[in-house]
Amino acid sequence: MKIASAEFVKSVWKPSDYPGESLPEIAFAGRSNVGKSSLINVLVNRKKLVKTSSTPGKTQSVNFFTINNIFTFVDLPGYGFAKVPLTVRKKWKPLVERYLKDRKALKLALLILDIRRIPSQEDIGLLEWFDFYDIPTVVVLNKIDKFSKSKLRKQVDLIKKSLPLEKNSTILFSAVTREGKGEVWKQILDRVEECE
Ligand code: GTP
Ligand code: MG
Repeated sequence: MKIASAEFVKSVWKPSDYPGESLPEIAFAGRSNVGKSSLINVLVNRKKLVKTSSTPGKTQSVNFFTINNIFTFVDLPGYGFAKVPLTVRKKWKPLVERYLKDRKALKLALLILDIRRIPSQEDIGLLEWFDFYDIPTVVVLNKIDKFSKSKLRKQVDLIKKSLPLEKNSTILFSAVTREGKGEVWKQILDRVEECE
């Protein structure tokens, strides 16, 4: 995918502030620190379109980016990290739930998981939520650079077994090596085309 433009549109901190729905939206969801923001930067070939951090809880608002003026990437704040302040964690639910539930423009959700961790109840709950609301979903197993090839296969099998829905495609990805980038783009573009 050739990126002609990738522009920050808006950060939303409260449910009443969501922008109007014009372009198809692709949401990036998952636990804090799994690499949602890093994935977006890799997809658009920009080091710092989205701020990333080794400290969990970097993204605390819902952030909208317009890509090539044809669709919108939505970077969601992460969940599930005990070190993220309680006040922030309490705001997550109404903010993200409102977005995921009401958003007609949302055409695809990417659930990002850290390949090193077995999915949590929150990850599984989110997958079931997407299924309930008929939101097509792709699972991205990020940070595969952390595993040797031989250990990777075993870990992928373990993770797939713990996920509730077999119908979702699973992509192996690394924001460091950029492996899997083409496959993620393919899933996004196929879905956007389907909606045209
Ligand atoms: P929140 O905004 O807190 O929800 O986190 P996030 O999911 O947006 O994660 P972010 O992209 O900020 O990345 C978290 C940390 O993981 C950063 O230190 C990244 O450099 C690192 N990271 C992201 N992707 C990869 C990867 O594929 N491999 C490795 N080794 N590190 C990664
Ligand atoms: Mg982030």
